[in-house]
Amino acid sequence: MAFPSAPSVLWSVSLLTVLFAAAVHSNIVFDDDPLQPVTSDETVSVGGTVILTCRVAESDNSSLQWSNTAQQTLYFGEKRALRDNRIQLHRSTPTELSITISDVQLSDEGEYTCSIFTMPVRTARATVTVLGVPGKPQISGFENAVQEGGKVTLTCTSTGSKPPAKLRWYRGDQELVGRPDVVESVPDDPTYNVSSELTLVVSRSDDNNLITCAVDHPSLAPGDKRSEQALRVLYSPVVEIQPESDLPREGEKFHLQCIGNGNPEPTSYIWEKKDGELPPLSKADGAYLRFEMLNKSDNGVYLCHADNGIGNGQGEYTLLVQDAAGNSADPTAMSPSSGVDHAVIGGVVAVIVFILLCLLIVLGRYLIRHKGTYLTHEAKGSDDAPDADTAIINAEGGHSGAEDKKEYFI
Ligand SMILES: *[C@@H]1O[C@H](CO)[C@@H](O)[C@H](O)[C@H]1NC(C)=O
Ligand SMILES: *[C@@H]1O[C@H](CO)[C@@H](O)[C@H](O)[C@H]1NC(C)=O
Ligand SMILES: *[C@@H]1O[C@H](CO)[C@@H](O)[C@H](O)[C@H]1NC(C)=O
Repeated sequence: MAFPSAPSVLWSVSLLTVLFAAAVHSNIVFDDDPLQPVTSDETVSVGGTVILTCRVAESDNSSLQWSNTAQQTLYFGEKRALRDNRIQLHRSTPTELSITISDVQLSDEGEYTCSIFTMPVRTARATVTVLGVPGKPQISGFENAVQEGGKVTLTCTSTGSKPPAKLRWYRGDQELVGRPDVVESVPDDPTYNVSSELTLVVSRSDDNNLITCAVDHPSLAPGDKRSEQALRVLYSPVVEIQPESDLPREGEKFHLQCIGNGNPEPTSYIWEKKDGELPPLSKADGAYLRFEMLNKSDNGVYLCHADNGIGNGQGEYTLLVQDAAGNSADPTAMSPSSGVDHAVIGGVVAVIVFILLCLLIVLGRYLIRHKGTYLTHEAKGSDDAPDADTAIINAEGGHSGAEDKKEYFI
């Protein structure tokens, strides 16, 4: 354990070698040489413009030169050497030579060389990377509306990207996970065609929803290239019955409307009355049930069945005809007012009970007090009196004393 094993020593040595080699090759080592030209690598999208700049810290008036990937001289100082109008002089000074390449093509990618004709010649290389801009994504796979609960498989493709683009799927703002991108390439074409597949089980809330496929690529700003596909979902109707008015009155003309929220719209409606026939003065007219003249005998629960070919839904409505004066014919509708009556009666009873209770308390106190007074009288008179007669006289004479005692009891 004290000595590192031979392989690990070898590994360390090779790592050091790599680091040393990297340091030697980096421009930093030559920074001390003021005549060494300095360049930078550039990345540009197809169709874009790139500026290649070559600088030296000091000049001895030797000429600077740019040459292309095929070692052809593009500019020698300010003299154009290759007839290509896409390549123009940007700046030429004793310490700088900059050129522009516009309408960049994929074939422009590679290593460009800047040279300065000192003794010996010094050079610097600049790598131009050309990005293949992906085409607008195309979504395929959705032709006809799909029934709720069914599966939809969409395919999104984007051509011409380099490096391969990444495709993303969204429903609204929510990102969906598709199958991993399939990347295609052919010989002699540096770009890629990318495709992604997304499978969805659709619900009724997906009807008219947009599914987006967006291209993610270094040559594009987010959201630059995207396509949308609207979904169409078929689903059975959810039925609601809407009355013409909330207070249908006897003798009035009236109708109920059956609203079937489905895709497609319902095509057939069936009206029914629960526990009975439709009234003779009513007429089913598609989504409407029309009453010529309302009658209290029309009261009851009405049903509407709507069918759109995908399925059917049912809704119900309880008709309660008010009489012409506005009172409901239904006895159960009376319950709120009789409820009020009960409350009034209850209150009155409570008040009476309360009064009775108060009276009982007052009476009780009065009785207790009277009994007390009587007992005191008897004790006083009998204690002092030598006989019963005197005791009675004494007791009568002590009445005023009893009056005083009364005050204490109250
Ligand atoms: C470079 O050229 C300019 C004018 O042509 C001259 O003034 C200057 O002295 C030269 N510099 C060197 C280092 O030869
Ligand atoms: C990409 O698709 C286009 C059009 O479909 C086709 O012409 C091209 O050869 C494809 N390229 C690759 C790399 O598959
Ligand atoms: C309601 O119908 C009954 C019998 O069906 C009828 O006798 C009555 O006159 C009708 N009331 C009104 C207001 O039409």
